[in-house]
Parts: sequence; C-alpha cells; structure tokens
Amino acid sequence: MKIGGSIAGEDDAALDMIAALHDSGRPVVAVHGGGPLVGEWATRLGLETRFERGLRVTDEPTRDVALAVLAGLVNKTLVARLIAKGVPATGISGVDGGMLRAEREDVALGLVGRVAMVDSSLLEELLGALRVPVVAPAALDTDGTILNVNGDTAAGAIAASIAARLLAFITDVPGVRGKDGRVIARLDRETAKALVEDGTIEGGMLPKVEACLVAAATGCRAAIVSARDIDAVEALLAGELAGTVFEAAA
Ligand SMILES: Nc1ncnc2c1ncn2[C@@H]1O[C@H](COP(=O)(O)OP(=O)(O)OP(=O)(O)O)[C@@H](O)[C@H]1O
Ligand SMILES: [Mg+2]
Repeated sequence: MKIGGSIAGEDDAALDMIAALHDSGRPVVAVHGGGPLVGEWATRLGLETRFERGLRVTDEPTRDVALAVLAGLVNKTLVARLIAKGVPATGISGVDGGMLRAEREDVALGLVGRVAMVDSSLLEELLGALRVPVVAPAALDTDGTILNVNGDTAAGAIAASIAARLLAFITDVPGVRGKDGRVIARLDRETAKALVEDGTIEGGMLPKVEACLVAAATGCRAAIVSARDIDAVEALLAGELAGTVFEAAA
C-alpha cells in the first residue's frame, strides 16, 4: 500500500486498512510519500521547491530536507501511529538493506532517481517475521549517493519485486478523473496514455498512473483509491472494483 503524504497528516483510515490486513494475516508493505511536509519544511528552511512532471526538482539541500522529513519525521510518525494500533510496524527507507537502487532520472531534476533495481531481501525477512515494513522513499545510485525517489515509483517497483497481488495507492482523490471530472473505474494502457497526453492526468497523478501501468504489466492488480473509501482494499482483494483499477495483464 502506498500512503499519500497528502493524507498522512490526520486521516487515520489508511492506517486502519493496514491494521485490518495485518490482523487478517495478510502480509502488507506500506510505502509512504510526504510531499506536502517536505515542501513545508523546505519553505521553513528558506529553500524554494519546484516540480517538473510531478517530480520535485532536488538540489543537495532539498535532498537533505526530503530525506530528513521522509525517512525521519513522516516515517516515524506513521510507525508510531501503527504501533498504537497494535501493528508491529518497522520503519525503514529504500536505502536500508540496499533495497532501492536508482539511476538519475534527468539532470534537470537534480538528485532524483528512477528505481532501477529492488533488493527485497530485507522486506522478505521482515514479512517472514510477521512485521509490517513501512518504507520511506529514498534510493542509492551506483556511487552510493542518496537520491530522492517519488513514493509512487518506489511503491510500484517494490510491488513488482515481491510479486504483490495488489498495489493500492491510498490518496486524497477518489481515483483518476477523466475529462468530465468523473472517476474512471477501469483504466487500460491506451486510455491512460491518451489522458496523460491531453493533460487530464497531471502532477502527482502522473507517477501513480505510471507505477500502476508497470505493476499491471507484471501481473499485479493496481488501483488508486481514496483514503475515505475504507472498504476499498478488501473490495480490491476480492476482485471487485474500487476507485480506479488497472487490471493485471493476463
Ligand atoms: N486526472 C486526475 N484525476 C485525479 N487527480 C488528479 C488528476 N490529475 C492530477 N491529479 C492530482 O493528483 C493528486 C494526487 O497526487 P499527490 O501527489 O498530490 O498525492 P499523493 O501521491 O497521495 O501524496 P504524496 O505525493 O505526498 O505521497 C490529486 O490531489 C490531484 O490534484
Ligand atoms: Mg504524490
């Protein structure tokens, strides 16, 4: 499950979904974002931030703030809230255990990575010990530099590497909206590409849709749902629709 930073503040629903999955004995990995808090702290520290294609342009001071906020504040806050619900949550980042390896996305974006390889062994050890890994997005490049990676991209790569049955993006909108503003229940590659090209899908929805397409191509069911839809994850696991679903390729 990818928990959006836009909802991580006060909305408890996504954490309840994780607790319910864990309580019913299903292994779950949580990956989180935290964009709004990174922006808030960057501003507090006098740094300007700017986005290109939904990705944060990241110089070294901005990378440091993103890492401190995501792997520190956001990650530990989520872990603490899950522990309070009785979930044996364990916070790690993509750097830990060398989990996420990335290549530079684009020189113009600075210290931003595109996940190239996932070593899921630490995740599998934690899942084997019935713990719930809570992963902050960050990755290592080949020379050991820590790169900022988008939480959606990280979640997609992790889902593929552990052959997850379901990749669910829990966010602040009820799904992908089409041109008419209505949520699209099922999205295929062609329609998604057209909506990206005509600008209907933009900003923070872009990396989500890309990650869903990647996951669906590896046989994983992927969906974008609202944190308010508390039954979404159960419905999706049962093969029903919720939010916007990208069906796994046959
Ligand atoms: N076609 C679309 N349908 C729905 N939302 C869209 C669409 N295009 C862009 N968006 C935007 O995408 C946003 C969701 O992405 P955003 O990155 O803000 O949240 P998140 O990924 O859940 O949080 P974080 O990035 O902190 O992890 C929505 O709030 C909406 O403004
Ligand atoms: Mg986002």
